[in-house]
Amino acid sequence: MRRNLNYGFLLGGMNMDEKKLINEKNIRLDGRKLGELRPIKIEAGVLNRADGSAYIEWGGNKVLAAVYGPIEAKPRHIQNPTKAIIDCRYNMAAFSVGERKRPGPGRRSIEISKVMSEALEYVVFTEKFPRAKIDVYIEVLQASAGTRCAGLTAASVALADAGIPMIDLLPACAVGKVEGQVVLDLDKEEDNFGEADIPLSVVPRTNEIVLLQMDGQLTIKEFEKCMEMGMNACKDIYELQKAALKERYAVFTEE
Ligand code: CDP
Repeated sequence: MRRNLNYGFLLGGMNMDEKKLINEKNIRLDGRKLGELRPIKIEAGVLNRADGSAYIEWGGNKVLAAVYGPIEAKPRHIQNPTKAIIDCRYNMAAFSVGERKRPGPGRRSIEISKVMSEALEYVVFTEKFPRAKIDVYIEVLQASAGTRCAGLTAASVALADAGIPMIDLLPACAVGKVEGQVVLDLDKEEDNFGEADIPLSVVPRTNEIVLLQMDGQLTIKEFEKCMEMGMNACKDIYELQKAALKERYAVFTEE
């Protein structure tokens, strides 16, 4: 989310007029090219007590996803007789950000939990589990912009790890505009001082968009470029998700 543009002091005590986020060679502050992702590591099956789990490190983000279910939804009045409910809870640990975050759900985490639940509901074959509930917990241990994308990427791996039938995994990534340029996977400074930020998630098999939010301003042309860049990045992230599950499965068969 873009925050107050006058917070230049956050960038190493320099004013934003003095410090550029992208240099004349189109290289970003952390050394990345405009269309380059931060390093991503995904591990599936990291928690013994959950039915499915995944851990993701994405740039400075560290996020755990855990799945419980399907179990009978309780109290009974919340049950849907035709399909399972996906209840996704995104939570930021108090120590996950620079300034201690007040524990508990705020407006932001409620909104993120809702858009994530809806995206996951689209890919899970919920009609196979009437009256059931599938809990998906996303715990952000360390945040550095793009946590909803990292969380959703990990959540779909955790669902697959739990053996829950799905149309496909859900890779997610943010794309946006910084100093007039369309860039992929905004880091913390770019998120704070950039002109636009668009988290998106795509079903790779069908190319359908299941999460799309936008903060900032873009021309139609820039928006189209963002979409292309984001959709391509989701394909790369999808490969990492599949590799994490394959690795998990290999260990499982060895056991
Ligand atoms: O994390 P994501 O980009 O999905 O969501 P955001 O609302 O755009 O937040 C961007 C970043 O701001 C987070 O990843 C955190 O690093 C930071 N943030 C924070 O420092 N304190 C908060 N209460 C919320 C977010």
